[in-house]
Amino acid sequence: MTLSEAIKTVEHIMSEIINSDVKVLRDASSHILSAGGKRVRPRVLMATYAALGGTDYVYAAPVAAAVELVHTASVVHDDINDHGVMRRGRPSVNAIWGRTFALLTGDFLFTKVYELMAPYRDLNIDMAVATSALVEGETLQAAAVKEQNFTREVYYEIIARKTAALFRAAAMMGAKLANASEATVEALGHYGYNIGLAFQIVDDVLDLTADTAQLGKTSGIDLAQGRGYAAAYNGNGHAGVGTAVAEVEVADDVVDSIKRKMLAGDAIQDAKAKARQLADFAIASLAVLPESQGKDDLIAVANYVVDRQY
Ligand code: IPE
Ligand code: IPE
Ligand code: MG
Ligand code: MG
Repeated sequence: MTLSEAIKTVEHIMSEIINSDVKVLRDASSHILSAGGKRVRPRVLMATYAALGGTDYVYAAPVAAAVELVHTASVVHDDINDHGVMRRGRPSVNAIWGRTFALLTGDFLFTKVYELMAPYRDLNIDMAVATSALVEGETLQAAAVKEQNFTREVYYEIIARKTAALFRAAAMMGAKLANASEATVEALGHYGYNIGLAFQIVDDVLDLTADTAQLGKTSGIDLAQGRGYAAAYNGNGHAGVGTAVAEVEVADDVVDSIKRKMLAGDAIQDAKAKARQLADFAIASLAVLPESQGKDDLIAVANYVVDRQY
């Protein structure tokens, strides 16, 4: 089975599991899932599983679906927090159904993770660790914005938890499903963690450089709300973004001037170089694996994370 066939299996599981006789949950879940998305986390899990000799896709796919549902729940909730009105090229769940139903849709998606993960014993621990980290990262971020303490150090702590932890878990669970040795699971954990960091750094660069139509979500929103790589680079609360007019809003002229400064200076290049370095580091962790299509897919994912334009 190819990776794209494996992802089709994952898609099928997700579309089946969100069935509920409560219409709004069914409709809102289907709205966000059928909008697509890059599916990069389940790709990491399934490619890892294959790279380590796993062949039973029906066994591994529900765990990949669960990872994607954690991620999807997190973006549904994230759009409530960030006042995001567009997601995956469509109006966000909160934009259509309002905050209450968006909150409940995210909750619903999280409960479906329990359901999918029930047969997988110890993997539930990896999933729980990653999900807690994600919530901690989002919370640390909101706190740093509020306290205007968005330093580069804090930025890395935030992205490690809100993004890299789930990528790490995806790779580790893929390895565990294939009965890999502890050392191999660890190596794949490094791979996932590093591409997760790179992924978020690139996402924050794209917030500055790509446009809304390309991204399928409102560009510039992170900077405007005092977070992301630009906020960290400019020392929120110290040098620039600290003139926030409200808890989560930076004045338009400040946003423009920071954006200009970022685009003119070395910040973007620095961020891209950092992401490249992390991806190379991730690829180096794969040296323990024999050559295979799965390994090539993992290398391709690492390169994609850095090279993607939207
Ligand atoms: C968005 O993740 C949130 C971040 C961690 C930056 P993705 O960029 O993977 O979102 P989709 O699933 O493709 O929409
Ligand atoms: C998305 O974070 C949610 C998590 C990573 C948990 P962001 O706010 O950075 O991502 P976008 O830009 O809205 O997708
Ligand atoms: Mg956010
Ligand atoms: Mg957001």
